[in-house]
Amino acid sequence: MTKEKELISPMLLILIMVFFTACKDASSEDKVEEEIGEENTIVKYSDRFSYLLEYPIDSISFPRSADRDGKIKKVPSKDWTSGFFPGSLWRIYQITDDVRYRDRAKEWTVFIEKEKYNDRTHDMGFKVFCSFGNGYKILNDPRYKDVIIESAETLSTRYNSTVKSIRSWDFNKEQWQFPVIIDNMMNLELLFEASKYSQDQKYYDIAEQHAKTTLKNHFRTNNSSYHVVDYDTISSGIRSKVTHQGFGNESSWARGQAWGLYGYTMAYRYTNNNEFLEQAKKIATFLIEHHRLPEDAIPYWDFDAPKIPNEPRDVSAAAVIASGMIELYEHTKDEKYLDFSDKIINSLSSEKYVIQEETIVPFILDHSTGNWPKNDEINGPISYADYYFLEAILRRKTLK
Ligand code: GLY
Repeated sequence: MTKEKELISPMLLILIMVFFTACKDASSEDKVEEEIGEENTIVKYSDRFSYLLEYPIDSISFPRSADRDGKIKKVPSKDWTSGFFPGSLWRIYQITDDVRYRDRAKEWTVFIEKEKYNDRTHDMGFKVFCSFGNGYKILNDPRYKDVIIESAETLSTRYNSTVKSIRSWDFNKEQWQFPVIIDNMMNLELLFEASKYSQDQKYYDIAEQHAKTTLKNHFRTNNSSYHVVDYDTISSGIRSKVTHQGFGNESSWARGQAWGLYGYTMAYRYTNNNEFLEQAKKIATFLIEHHRLPEDAIPYWDFDAPKIPNEPRDVSAAAVIASGMIELYEHTKDEKYLDFSDKIINSLSSEKYVIQEETIVPFILDHSTGNWPKNDEINGPISYADYYFLEAILRRKTLK
């Protein structure tokens, strides 16, 4: 750790600049200055970043989460979360310009390459786009581009032209015929980009059609979404609308709402389809105006969890929302989305959510909830919360 501590001064300066630039034009400027002051929040980031850098390299041990005792859950590349850790390293490199993070990101990213042939899951975007996708934008290495195209080809084999969707999961076959989850919207970015890189329209068409089918079938009249829609592969009819990670079939699982917001905002970026933008705005309204959203804008893990306010929060949902809202602001120029994102970023930058300095785990933020019904990863650090938080900081910084 001693060597890393020497880096705190330049890093601290950079981070202060990031935060000043980020929040300069927002009403939250005073609050951000406070955070930079005695609270020393930013110093904590520097420490936290170095924990990610120092985490030992191991091709089958991507850090996914940590429990309250600091025990780290490690996963191989086939896990849906593998891409977030290298993705966070790419993001920290972009924030700090410290090449050690870029070099470490490269090392972790290559371990994911074999996933380009894994056709047993829809999570290709999370795995390959967060790692190789970010890496390609930074390094412009054609080998990265080839991995992205190959991955899109593999993912496209899960598209069913009767259902007009990409199949999400292969498990629970006795219960579901063709399950599609709202999370699947997040994998479309890989397809849209692969279409640009390869000039193959097929990937674009699949992505756009998947988004249209999800728009038709996943949303309730209040613009919250179901988690899982199960389709009949012969008639294309809907067999059931249920939850897997939410509180109940009719409840609003917080991360699902976050995936929907981010997914439709991103899908609009590629398609200019106004229906996608309108849906993103409706989801944003659902979130911003929800009467069970806490004052600090960090949602409980499910908006309908029965013991609110005594329910765990989900920082990962908040981070995805913060990043998605910045892009939504870019498309609409409506300040309320930016204000909401700033509110989340400010909350997440506080002592309550940043992991305490002395806890040596390769994560930045605490208090995410992974899978409440399975009592798995409740109220702790999770890699994807960090990834989208870092993305939100970067997006805020580069906002014109
Ligand atoms: N995509 C799985 C999750 O959000 O937990």
